[in-house]
Amino acid sequence: MRVTINRLQKMKDEGSLIPMISAYDYTSAFILEDAGIPIILVGDSLGNVVLGYDSTIPVTMDDMLRHTQMVVRGTKKAHIVGDMPFMSYQTGVRDAICNAGRLIKEGGCQSVKLEGGEPIVEIVQSLVQFGIPVMGHLGLTPQSVNQLGGYRVQGKEDSSGEKLLNEARMLQNAGAYAIVLELIPAKLAEKITASLDIPTIGIGAGPKCDGQVQIFHDMLGLFPDFSPKHARKYMDLNIEIKKAVQGYIKDVQKGLFPSDQESF
Ligand code: KIV
Repeated sequence: MRVTINRLQKMKDEGSLIPMISAYDYTSAFILEDAGIPIILVGDSLGNVVLGYDSTIPVTMDDMLRHTQMVVRGTKKAHIVGDMPFMSYQTGVRDAICNAGRLIKEGGCQSVKLEGGEPIVEIVQSLVQFGIPVMGHLGLTPQSVNQLGGYRVQGKEDSSGEKLLNEARMLQNAGAYAIVLELIPAKLAEKITASLDIPTIGIGAGPKCDGQVQIFHDMLGLFPDFSPKHARKYMDLNIEIKKAVQGYIKDVQKGLFPSDQESF
């Protein structure tokens, strides 16, 4: 049985912090689950870290479906959240239901994530009514990067902070089971978290959220020249992979690979 949204709520109620990581394929998903991660996000950040775009905007439903299926196949117990890509839900309730339905039915995930506040409240309400659990996403919403003018901390002024707090309440009232808070001041995230019954999951939102989410590639140091302030590098995998590959190159060039034991 996979981790349910009820279990995630229970974690908040019991004060047990929720660790979430993004994954985009079968192999990374089964490693994360094996390590004990209860909830995995198939983020549309795959646009940046897997597909090589400079934003999440070009990511399609087909991209999300394919990668969600991989992550689902790599796991048995973790709760899998499928990210709704740009313009798969903003165009109206009907599109949102069709596309979220595809992520659940064809992708195999257990819930979907949508970016935004007030403008998507009706959409969230409809999805939840039709049995599709929704994770919200407030603060820096990367699909709106062109409108926001860059990847900047949001909610720094009293008025914009108040707006985010209200929108978090609206999403909760619409039936969202959790909300990602991205790149907002730690004090604001703490206030939002305290004022909601549902869990908040922070990224660049300080330590007082009910959980934290990190991008797989950031925390493992897969990109040598990219390390955002909000990410903690738990290892330099880029360097380790390069070392391994260079060892292999040397072995092949010197005729040391394969050995007799590695031959038939
Ligand atoms: O796409 C993603 O990985 C996300 C996280 C930043 C929360 O939305």
